Amino acid sequence: MRVCVEKNYGQMSRRVAQIVGQTIAANPKAVLGLATGETPEGCYAQLVRMHREEGLDFLLVTTFNLDEYVGLAPSHPQSYHSYMSDKLFNHVNIDKNRTHIPDGLAPRPREFSQAYERLIGSSGGIDLQLLGIGRNGHLGFNEPGSPFDSRTRVVDLSEETRRDNSKFFGSISKVPRQAITIGLATIMEARRIVLLASGINKARAVEHAVKGPVSAEVPASILQRHPDCTFLLDEQAASILSEG
Ligand code: F6R
Repeated sequence: MRVCVEKNYGQMSRRVAQIVGQTIAANPKAVLGLATGETPEGCYAQLVRMHREEGLDFLLVTTFNLDEYVGLAPSHPQSYHSYMSDKLFNHVNIDKNRTHIPDGLAPRPREFSQAYERLIGSSGGIDLQLLGIGRNGHLGFNEPGSPFDSRTRVVDLSEETRRDNSKFFGSISKVPRQAITIGLATIMEARRIVLLASGINKARAVEHAVKGPVSAEVPASILQRHPDCTFLLDEQAASILSEG
């Protein structure tokens, strides 16, 4: 695992957008794994800028998002469908038929999850997976205790995650209790992974993931076993790591 530290959030966002841009330039049909949340917003803003100013071409790119809340319609303002449209898809020339986000309203989530896995496989697998990290070390919505061999499925969200995400919903009571997430095994199959973390709130989780034992209690620690994984951090998120 490589650790790369940028001065601040803006520089971290520019750096990851560059990596995405290089991936697409090298392979216009790249398959990207995408995350939502606050952390990648700057990256998506940069990608939109690169599309407008530098002609970054998304036409043949395929995307798979990590997760979606169970029970939220795609049109719900806090759904990850809305997030992706608002932050990226509506502003670049991506073919919407090539974008995939778990369906939070799937009537048969088990079958849906298996089909999502098959679709990732038949698309050739994920070339570049972007990840954020929860304060509890979660990846996607694979909360502490998630098995390393887990695949796409419905999961319960921890109280901590619901509390953290209540900033988007106004109140914790409005945060869904479940989500569909791709699994840790699915994430580990990506050919290249870049995990983003920004801010002091993430410093402890980053330290546990990078330096702690590989343990289901810190799902992100599994990334120590990935052959091509970079933790791209700002100075605050790296602050405990750099203490020694
Ligand atoms: C988002 C996701 C989550 C977030 C994590 C960090 O698709 O799967 O794992 O990456 O909760 O969220 P932020 O970036 O809002 O701190």
